[in-house]
Amino acid sequence: MMNTTGQSAALSSRVQEKFKSVFAGDSSLTVRSPGRVNLIGEHTDYNNGFVLPAAIDKAIFMAVSRRTDHELHVVALDLDSSYQGSVDRLQRSSLHWPDYLLGVIQQIQALGHSVGGFNCVFGGDIPLGAGMSSSAALECATAFALNELFGLKLDPLTMVKLSQKAENVFVGLQCGIMDQFASMFGRRNQVIRLDCQSLEYVYFPFNTEGIRIVLLDTGVKHSLASSEYNTRRQQCEAGVRLVRAHYPDINSLRDVTLSMLEAFVEPVDALVYRRCRYVVEENTRLLNATEDLQKGDLAAFGQKMFASHQGLSHDYAVSCEELDFLVGQVKDDPGVIGARMMGGGFGGCTINLVREAAIDGLIERITPVYREAMQLELKAYIGNIENGTSLE
Ligand code: GLA
Repeated sequence: MMNTTGQSAALSSRVQEKFKSVFAGDSSLTVRSPGRVNLIGEHTDYNNGFVLPAAIDKAIFMAVSRRTDHELHVVALDLDSSYQGSVDRLQRSSLHWPDYLLGVIQQIQALGHSVGGFNCVFGGDIPLGAGMSSSAALECATAFALNELFGLKLDPLTMVKLSQKAENVFVGLQCGIMDQFASMFGRRNQVIRLDCQSLEYVYFPFNTEGIRIVLLDTGVKHSLASSEYNTRRQQCEAGVRLVRAHYPDINSLRDVTLSMLEAFVEPVDALVYRRCRYVVEENTRLLNATEDLQKGDLAAFGQKMFASHQGLSHDYAVSCEELDFLVGQVKDDPGVIGARMMGGGFGGCTINLVREAAIDGLIERITPVYREAMQLELKAYIGNIENGTSLE
């Protein structure tokens, strides 16, 4: 198997070669922007809570150079698709993938910067629809590349925020800040504890001897994903409104306690109560889990991952049969320290902390059972924690 550095170099040169052949010249610069994992703290970011993500060694590579006109020529190498437009007329594309770039251009312009025409080729190895945030990586790659190409002098946090806004406004998913933040601020062998209220963040080492992050990909992405995501957001906001009627200073679930939920939400709306309770519990779980990590108590950390899954599946209801099946399959496996669904839900991956020596056996065991139960082919990835978005 090719090592991470070798694979990155190969992907990067594939993108650069394509650029050369399509645009008859070298690109000015190439950016690498990674996908992410999240160890714990799911659906907490848009509730002003905490998350614990990290950038990984799966990334998008984007080569760009300026044009003399205002046109935009983009090639999505892995999709074998191309797009042409103008930076003066940004309209949603029926191809969908250009929207991530167009949304970022729009947000850069909204900050008062001008973006000229450019040529672009991108491609990489973040599996699409697997919940590793290929879309955030594409947005961050675009923001970073254009910042360099046009000398915009945007700082990383501004690029994160505008990338998130691009997804909210142009793509239409009301996502939080976690994915873009992790893609931009990731650091090799470190997880980031981000406070999504203050945006303060701390890096924690995660070079846990003999334990690896294994992503088990269900191979499904149910169509509910984005509509239900936006609905969960509204349900959390509804819960906050019910509490705020009694505590006017409260702005988000971050300021809400379980007893407030029991007093003011449960009697009015049992469903909203369950959604909100999960979020409040997940924040507490994350804070305790980071203590486990600091103490090196991975067993306790792993149990919190399982508890997180339980909450996401039963109370927050963003899991699905395939995700529940995969978590159920590893629950009593002595080689697996913790597991849960990762990201928005309704498909994508489970994240598993697995003893290195047990990885091959685990994949061999689960692949046929998963195929049998779901008629789907399981894919497995090892997630190595890497640096965030940068120039190649
Ligand atoms: C998606 C969103 C993130 C976050 C997660 C759930 O990945 O893009 O902002 O809300 O879902 O934790």
